[in-house]
Amino acid sequence: MSETTELKIPRHIAIIMDGNGRWAKKRLLPRTAGHKVGLDTFVNTVDSCSDLGIEYLTVYAFSTENWNRATEEVSALMELMSKGIVKYEPEMVRKNIRLKLLGDIDRFEPKYRQALRSVEERLANNTGMTLCICLSYGGRQELVNAVNRLLKEGRTEITAEDIERNLYSAGVPDPDLVVRTSGEYRISNFLLWQSAYSEYYFTDVFWPDFDKKELLKAIESFSKRERRFGR
Ligand code: IPE
Ligand code: IPE
Ligand code: MG
Repeated sequence: MSETTELKIPRHIAIIMDGNGRWAKKRLLPRTAGHKVGLDTFVNTVDSCSDLGIEYLTVYAFSTENWNRATEEVSALMELMSKGIVKYEPEMVRKNIRLKLLGDIDRFEPKYRQALRSVEERLANNTGMTLCICLSYGGRQELVNAVNRLLKEGRTEITAEDIERNLYSAGVPDPDLVVRTSGEYRISNFLLWQSAYSEYYFTDVFWPDFDKKELLKAIESFSKRERRFGR
């Protein structure tokens, strides 16, 4: 980093963890091998962000559209993510991480759903970094869900604040920086409402190869941005 740029740590980083399949393909491995290494990268990234003093980290782990993948890949991902989060609980306790699951977790098999919800409950009152994991998450679904909740309250007119209060992410500030790995330049239904004024950072690195050095590059790029919010 150039000596003149001071590193500005974003309060909230959101990451689209993409490229596991291509990482594996390049090595002639099955896609699930990429997801396995991707899980390690996720754990390391949580550690790095917590060490850097980031207040909120949101990761996109599984989208509403990802349900349309091959059954074998979906099952492998369900098992890997659920068991991975359960296995990582003691470390999250040690790091005082507060966990929040964003998405339609009810679509998960009951055994996974229960395991995930109980880890979330046990970590809900921690006071360190807030880790939001988007599972079975879609930005459009989140908005539809919010509006339906308001309709059930009998509302006929709503405000932006009403919507915000009913998003999965209620109470979490908007992301300052959205990172996407693997050389794709799209949002893929991630945090559509919340990212209205986020800064974007794209890298060609596949998610399993995204290490602390790459994270710092993203933060360095963010540090040089001038945010104007329309003013
Ligand atoms: C990201 O990697 C993980 C999930 C979407 C679950 P991909 O599985 O999308 O990998 P690519 O994009 O096919 O390389
Ligand atoms: C976005 O990646 C979802 C996650 C990283 C969980 P995808 O690989 O599913 O998105 P597309 O299909 O390339 O847009
Ligand atoms: Mg992908």
